Amino acid sequence: MCQICQTATVTENKVIDRSAQQANTIYNQRTLEQDYRTLKSALKPGLRVLDVGCGTGSITKDIAELVGPTGYVVGIDHTASFISEGKSQYADVANLEFIYADILNFQTEEKFDLIVSARTFQWISTLDRAIEKLKSLLKPNGQLSILDYIHEAITWTPKIPAAMQNFYNMFLMWRKDAGMNNRIGYDIIDIFAEHGFEEIEVFNADEHYERIFPAHVEKLKIWSKVAASKQMVEEGYVSEQERLDAIESYNHWVDKEATSMTLKLREVRAILN
Ligand SMILES: C[S@@+](CC[C@H](N)C(=O)[O-])C[C@H]1O[C@@H](n2cnc3c(N)ncnc32)[C@H](O)[C@@H]1O
Repeated sequence: MCQICQTATVTENKVIDRSAQQANTIYNQRTLEQDYRTLKSALKPGLRVLDVGCGTGSITKDIAELVGPTGYVVGIDHTASFISEGKSQYADVANLEFIYADILNFQTEEKFDLIVSARTFQWISTLDRAIEKLKSLLKPNGQLSILDYIHEAITWTPKIPAAMQNFYNMFLMWRKDAGMNNRIGYDIIDIFAEHGFEEIEVFNADEHYERIFPAHVEKLKIWSKVAASKQMVEEGYVSEQERLDAIESYNHWVDKEATSMTLKLREVRAILN
């Protein structure tokens, strides 16, 4: 048992089936400005940056723009289709490279000034190994930034239907049973300190969506997309009928009743001396 995370100790990261969730469409819409806004103060021309769990690379490409032609950005991800999409979409960005790799197995001779990772550590059960790996990839005085969720603290107004609340509760249990941390956005502060990082800074990075804004409706529907995966059914956490009821009732809630949803996130940043 991890004393900080209070989750089961596991030795392997769970394999997540992302094929049914239209995840690439969600990731393609992300921008540094909207979806990792607090990182901008850490980005300077000339930096060599590693983006761990870069998805299809839309935020990574924005980072490459800010570090400019004297800087360089490498995005890695362990989902092959996301890396292929990033490579083809941003082939013309000279200071940007995408590599298909799991962080635990990533090998390079290069060291980085800054390592960033958005919404990825929520999926990592082997947190200590992953952090030690990142330490080995940082230059002296290098900086690490992790942006991630506090899933336990999400709020919906008004309350969501019971079928989706039940699905969400089981989602948190499914994650916890696999050793994933449902409040990584909080716990990463202590984990950084435990691994010798200094000058730890914490930035609020909540995402707030309101139905009155048409562009927010798809964001509110994130949980129907999560429930599009049958993985939790296949692993015995919910029945197929419960999954379908969760999607139907939640979509109805978004279209007819929703006021807002706040996803709680923090960026935690620190230096390795
Ligand atoms: C929720 S997505 C975030 C994508 C992007 N950073 C963003 O904020 O839009 C998490 C990503 O982390 C990747 N990922 C999860 N565990 C990983 C690991 N151990 N090594 C490399 N990539 C990983 C997944 O394939 C996925 O693309």
